[in-house]
Amino acid sequence: MAVACISSLSLTAFAASIASYPADWRDWPVVGESMVPGRDVVLPEETPLFIQEAVAAYNWINDGQGTKLTTHVHPDKIEQYKTHGPYSDGITVVGVYEKPGVVFVTEHLSGKPIYGTYDVNGKDISSTHPTFEPQYCESCHNTYQDICINGTCSVPVIDLFK
Ligand code: HEC
Repeated sequence: MAVACISSLSLTAFAASIASYPADWRDWPVVGESMVPGRDVVLPEETPLFIQEAVAAYNWINDGQGTKLTTHVHPDKIEQYKTHGPYSDGITVVGVYEKPGVVFVTEHLSGKPIYGTYDVNGKDISSTHPTFEPQYCESCHNTYQDICINGTCSVPVIDLFK
């Protein structure tokens, strides 16, 4: 009993990534280039709520100045990604914020998405900010299931500015 209590406490104190870090993501095909607008950017009025929330969640990154977001898909999962799954097990896709270098990872396990946040050297940084915790990722990706089908969202924010 005592042991169980201690371990659940430490889980709360130090959120850890659930998805693993794919060391070779730089070699994976790029399927999307997008951006997080800076904190001061006013989004077009017709911007879907979902996108507004995603921007609001992460526009503090890079000191609020905005940054490029590049999506790389695991070479074996390109076809699966096109149809938003169903996904086979393993790491599926990464979203990389160019500055300051943050890698969002979505992996699948028994068809279900799991999440992780790393720096570009593979260090787990999910405990460094509340919005980097896997539970937080899930709260958005799972809420908008009409868009984030099987955990992948790919509604490029950059399209709004075209
Ligand atoms: C408030 C909503 C929201 C939260 C929170 C969120 N995401 Fe996303 N996610 C999005 C949106 C919207 C996109 C599509 C962005 C684009 O392409 O411009 C996206 C895209 C992604 C992608 C690119 C691949 C794809 O098509 O889905 C990955 C990987 C990803 N998110 C992982 C994560 C991880 C890991 C976390 C938590 C650290 C997280 N997300 C938190 C909304 C969210």
